[in-house]
Amino acid sequence: MADQQTSDAPTEFDAFDAFAAKNALNGVGVVKDPYPRLAELRSQCPVHQGSVSARFDLPGADRIIAAEDEQASVYTYQGVDAVLRDAASFSSSWYRMSIGDVIGRTILEMDPPEHRRFRSLISPAFTRREMDRWEHGFVRGIVDAYLDRFRADGRADLAADFAFHYPIHVIAVAAGLPVVDLPEFYRHTALLTNVAVSQDERLAASRDLGAMVQELIDARRAEPADDLIGVLVRARLNDEDWDGASDRQLTDDEIVAFLRLLVPAGAQTTYRAITTVLYGLLSHPDQLAAVRADRSLIPQAIEEGLRWEVPLLAVGRTAVRDTVVEGCPVRAGQHVNAPVAAANHDPSRWERPDEFDIFRTPVPHVSFGVGPHVCLGIHAARMEMRVALDLLLDRLPGLRLDPDTPCDGVTGLGLRTAVRLPVVFDTP
Ligand code: HEM
Repeated sequence: MADQQTSDAPTEFDAFDAFAAKNALNGVGVVKDPYPRLAELRSQCPVHQGSVSARFDLPGADRIIAAEDEQASVYTYQGVDAVLRDAASFSSSWYRMSIGDVIGRTILEMDPPEHRRFRSLISPAFTRREMDRWEHGFVRGIVDAYLDRFRADGRADLAADFAFHYPIHVIAVAAGLPVVDLPEFYRHTALLTNVAVSQDERLAASRDLGAMVQELIDARRAEPADDLIGVLVRARLNDEDWDGASDRQLTDDEIVAFLRLLVPAGAQTTYRAITTVLYGLLSHPDQLAAVRADRSLIPQAIEEGLRWEVPLLAVGRTAVRDTVVEGCPVRAGQHVNAPVAAANHDPSRWERPDEFDIFRTPVPHVSFGVGPHVCLGIHAARMEMRVALDLLLDRLPGLRLDPDTPCDGVTGLGLRTAVRLPVVFDTP
């Protein structure tokens, strides 16, 4: 069980509502099933000129970032895989335009060799061993505390009451944030990359979040600690080539930017992924029963859930030279959308790709990306999802969708989420 310090949940600010406009921009609640259209596009041609959102007649982040004739979109597994592995042709500088202004400069927008060196400074904070420490130090306690809030009611909305809060709470505690600051942290994180609010509001949230993190950095520089910021403050790279210096540490600005990145990259993705895995199981009661009976099936349920409904439709790159993807030309300077959702439903790799089936033969998916930028938080995400499923099944016996409350399931284009997950369960 977590102590009060880590498990108290913030209540003062309804970050869930602040998210509604961001969701609307990304087609959440509007696009129910994008996969037939993605399949149609894929069968016409592996690569199309223009954004993905325009093909669905929707607004979307890709249409805000670049004009239609300045972008191309890749719809096959092989094409997406090739783009993400080829950092020499496809630069991650794309992210400078999409989120760099509010986040700051991070590994997400760097290219090799700078990216590799920088990433190796940060990666010790995200090893399996570190995640083991997170799990038993505070993650299980945080989940327990949320479940305690509604366990006696026999019903809950697992999206709004649980999944939405849990991963951002984990990041806050991992960073060493005092519990009294959690509501403020929530407020800033809900606005930070929310393109549905004004640029001024986003930049203000970015500054305020930065100031909170700076206080933690100052404290860790004065007195070492084993939390995430403590690990980042101590990280050291001995590399003669690095900026011409032989002994390189992260600067305060770099740590602040990295913490800001963890909000969209680490917390919001995991929140959405938890809702979709849960919806996959709840809407397939036979598979849920199998997992309840045999918890060793949890990892494959998570991987199938991630393949079936990846939380982020696409990642982006900028072509730095004229090149060819799947036989189709891509011009230097074009923004390239790599929809991992389309790749994960490519019938040349998966039979019945649109079905949720935890018993299918496992084949790697691209929900965590691939190549040099493959998700740094992959062990964190898998651990958080495993702990959530395990404790939900332990503590909410008879867990099932509420037959009396309609549930839209997973919706969205740019982002895929089950915004509401009304469930009932047996009370103690
Ligand atoms: C289910 C949840 C998650 C999904 C689906 C996901 C997905 C991804 C994807 C697709 C990328 C690659 C982006 C690209 O190539 O442009 C990425 C990168 C990244 N992710 Fe995750 N992620 C998840 C959870 C997390 C968590 C929990 C953390 C940290 C606590 C995290 C931290 C990062 C970071 C720092 C990067 C940048 C890596 C780099 O540029 O080298 N992610 N993630």
